Amino acid sequence: MNAVQFSYPIGFTKNLKDKPIRVLLQGKPLVMFRGKEGKIIVLEDRCPHRGVPLSKGKVDSDGIVCPYHGWTFSEGGRCVKIPGVSDCKMRGIHSAKSLKVQEKYGLIWVGEGKIPEIKEWDTHDCFYMVNEAESSVLHVMENALDPLHTLFIHNGWIRKRGKEKEVKVIVTIEKEGVHAETVDEEKQQGVIHKLLTMGRTVVRNFGRVIGPNCFQLEFQTSKGDSLFMTAFIHPIKEGLVRVYTANLYQTTLPKWIFKRLAKTLFEIAVKQDAEMLKIQSENLKHWKKEKMVSTKGDYMGPWIEKLLQGEELIPKRYEVVLNV
Ligand code: FES
Ligand SMILES: [Fe+2]
Repeated sequence: MNAVQFSYPIGFTKNLKDKPIRVLLQGKPLVMFRGKEGKIIVLEDRCPHRGVPLSKGKVDSDGIVCPYHGWTFSEGGRCVKIPGVSDCKMRGIHSAKSLKVQEKYGLIWVGEGKIPEIKEWDTHDCFYMVNEAESSVLHVMENALDPLHTLFIHNGWIRKRGKEKEVKVIVTIEKEGVHAETVDEEKQQGVIHKLLTMGRTVVRNFGRVIGPNCFQLEFQTSKGDSLFMTAFIHPIKEGLVRVYTANLYQTTLPKWIFKRLAKTLFEIAVKQDAEMLKIQSENLKHWKKEKMVSTKGDYMGPWIEKLLQGEELIPKRYEVVLNV
């Protein structure tokens, strides 16, 4: 496997205990386990000897033990034991391939790229949601940051058709990300807004892509409530994406009420999106080469596409006027 160019989350740190866990990243099986002093090790889930998945083995004090002939692998995938061949000189070819691991935001990240810096992490409370979409990273990100579909998929839930108002979106392109601030939309007309903001005015409403592995939606009200829905992307395999959403919040409601209410409301919106994303990706299988047609309302998609290809963007700023 090539080193993963970007860093991606592959699971929650707290879920990795004594047993190894197999997980897919971009279609490749990986095994994660805890080595000496609890250090997290991630290897390709393939024994270099005869290709058996190491995740079917056990972890002992030396490392992960292959269930077939007992070859044992420790940090860096180094082979430390080959039972029955005591004079075998263990070299690089006997090692399992290992991936760079980092722990951040309660998640295990692998890969060679950056993990986004989320400055609100230390100042806000957080509850996570985990959802999967039968779709691509591009379409999941674009969907989450696209205001126009809310009039259809989430009609009455996020925005309301027939109650559209002209709003301005200021799009700021940076080298490794895109920010879109919606101005002049103090109140969205859907149920979510009414319940969560208690009818307060929204003073800041941002959508942003932070690199190829993270996007964020931000809302702040005039009374100081704020929510940063921060989504970390795990591309499991072609056509399947897991999203770990850290909902970072400060609220004037009792925390438990906010958390329960927000989770219930967001889960419904996510389900509405997941259904459409699945329909879209099923259909696109028949039209792989056809170009998609965009308008100025699709201000995120083309930039996301470039970021996913590892392109550095040329900074600029422009405005788009929409009716939402
Ligand atoms: S297949 Fe793993 S030790 Fe033989
Ligand atoms: Fe949506």
